[in-house]
Amino acid sequence: MQKLRIAIQKSGRLHDDSIKLLKECGIDMNNGVNKLKTEASNFPLEVFFLRDDDIPQYVEDGVADIGIVGENVVLEKARTVDAIEKLGFGKCRLSLAVPKGMEYTSVKDMQNMRIATSYPVILEQFLSKNNITAEIHEISGSVEIAPGIGLAEAICDLVSSGSTLFMNGLKEVETVLKSEAVLIANKSLTAEQIQILDKLLFRIKAVKKAKN
Ligand code: PRP
Ligand code: ZN
Ligand code: MG
Repeated sequence: MQKLRIAIQKSGRLHDDSIKLLKECGIDMNNGVNKLKTEASNFPLEVFFLRDDDIPQYVEDGVADIGIVGENVVLEKARTVDAIEKLGFGKCRLSLAVPKGMEYTSVKDMQNMRIATSYPVILEQFLSKNNITAEIHEISGSVEIAPGIGLAEAICDLVSSGSTLFMNGLKEVETVLKSEAVLIANKSLTAEQIQILDKLLFRIKAVKKAKN
């Protein structure tokens, strides 16, 4: 029998909840530390553990059939995949933040600023929609330290509890995008794969319903 291959985050904010969701769907698997893939023992599912940023591409290319990833990553990577179900966890927002002592009145204050972010595509869309020109510095991590080391005046990064901003002396000034974890799928699944996906989706919806 064919298996459905699902890509989930290897480590980070969505990892634990992604595994928890599969367990709540009754799927048994052993996820040893440092394992790159594993198989469910009671469901035709193979699980790949990958960097979240790479998941949309793997699903588009068909290396994985489905994946769990933040909407923010799906939008940033602009891949052709189907977003089939919001999962109700990993809720966060992509926001602009500035040093807490800086005066800020409106998005116009971003004009000509240097903004550090891991989301240049989404940020550029937001700025141009607001008729702002700024200098976007793409960095892949530790974005919150950019103002402190003189790399940028502002940042655009994910905010969940707000503690990262707080600890780095930054304040949130604009919400660019709201995001949560979503299930995405490759556009050309086989009939058999769609059957497995429907089964999984049925369980996911039941789990979500039970929580409401
Ligand atoms: C985001 C963001 C901050 C943190 C904010 O990282 O880059 O580091 O979460 O969360 P808080 O408001 O609760 O402090 P993410 O989990 O996406 O990890 P990554 O940057 O390694 O992908
Ligand atoms: Zn990431
Ligand atoms: Mg981070």
